[in-house]
Amino acid sequence: MNINEYKNRRQELMDILSEGSMAILPAAPMQLRNCDVHYPYRQDSNFYYLTGFPEPQALAVIVPQREQGQYLLFCREKNQNKEALDGNIIGLEDACEIYGADDAFPITDIDDIIPGLMESCRCLYYPMGYYEEFDDKIIEWINQLREHVRSGKVAPFEMVSVDHILHEMRLQKTDAEIQALRAAADVSILAHKRAMQFCRPDLYEYELEAEITYELLRNGCRAEAFPTSVAGGKNACILHYTENKDILNNGDLVLIDAGAEINHYASDISRTFPVNGHFSKPQKTLYELVLKAQRAAIGKIYPGNQWNDPYNAAIVVITEGLKDLGLLVGKVDILIEEEAYKRFYTDHIGHWLGMDVHDPGNYKIDDVWRYLEPGMVMTVEPGLYIPAAEDISEEWWNIGIRIEDNVLITVGGHEVLTSELPKTVIEIEALMARKAF
Ligand code: GLY
Repeated sequence: MNINEYKNRRQELMDILSEGSMAILPAAPMQLRNCDVHYPYRQDSNFYYLTGFPEPQALAVIVPQREQGQYLLFCREKNQNKEALDGNIIGLEDACEIYGADDAFPITDIDDIIPGLMESCRCLYYPMGYYEEFDDKIIEWINQLREHVRSGKVAPFEMVSVDHILHEMRLQKTDAEIQALRAAADVSILAHKRAMQFCRPDLYEYELEAEITYELLRNGCRAEAFPTSVAGGKNACILHYTENKDILNNGDLVLIDAGAEINHYASDISRTFPVNGHFSKPQKTLYELVLKAQRAAIGKIYPGNQWNDPYNAAIVVITEGLKDLGLLVGKVDILIEEEAYKRFYTDHIGHWLGMDVHDPGNYKIDDVWRYLEPGMVMTVEPGLYIPAAEDISEEWWNIGIRIEDNVLITVGGHEVLTSELPKTVIEIEALMARKAF
């Protein structure tokens, strides 16, 4: 992403910060496995959003009133004697030249420099409660200043959690972010298509997962946005199923929930398709009901509508459909009021999507469902999960279906970023018939 993108974000944050304040954000800590290898490392999304800086052991400090430069980056130094070993370390010079810091300092100098910067600030913005070590450090610096109060030092007396501000900023995607989300969606589509074309009875769920991972990796995706779920048959009724260990039986459906992360932006797609390439009549009936609900939900996505409008549209379709099939009995409006559909449709409609798969941002403001605005991106993922129960006709037992797309809210309505992936019964069966692997 262009360096100006990050600069604009820092400026937007500075415009929001109160007078006489500063903001401090830490990079994500390194993760150690049960050996001393730091792997895999994923930068903290808020930190990355403001800096584009990919390394651990870094701290971004933003001081709007600092005349010598408002954006300071503390990071690892290149060691000239060990160039071969730490050649990948960005170092102080490039922190300024490539990543746009006004000043860069060694991370080892934070205790010497930061209390001095805090001294001139009345209000400190930082992400509270995310990283224990960093929280402790902030308290340590503040106490250090308090100890010297008689020599005229003043500690910030107001602490504000910066994440709320950043989360609101992150909700509205810029053109560059939308481009990144498109890239993640495009690669994810390829992976789902591959799984559909590779699928056949008697494979194991993990074999389809392997095809997904293969297609993601060969298209430049270094990390999945979340653990891939390949759920055959009744496993599709298990929430967040990721064991992917069972055999895929002839006659069952398989539900795949998978998405790429590309350049720190996520995609999140679910598709459900028949293991043998052909929907049975009950599977097709329920599938088309979920699809109708998803289309009704997507139809409600436009600026000025509220977050819950798509959900409400979906539950009307689902409830009417379940009633027509005899799976619910009663009047539709009463069934909706009593939330009878929740026996079969347990989730909400979706979530915000962005740098994180469950991107931050409130869904309600002052107890009112949030209004949709251009630039927001959300998933739309209604589903039906039918348990094996005595009061349910056996033809429906253990059918689990979810259809999930990624939707950008535009000025004129919406755009489905994942629309290239087959979704109708005819499209899915046609793609599966063209076995490519
Ligand atoms: N599709 C993954 C998740 O929403 O958790």
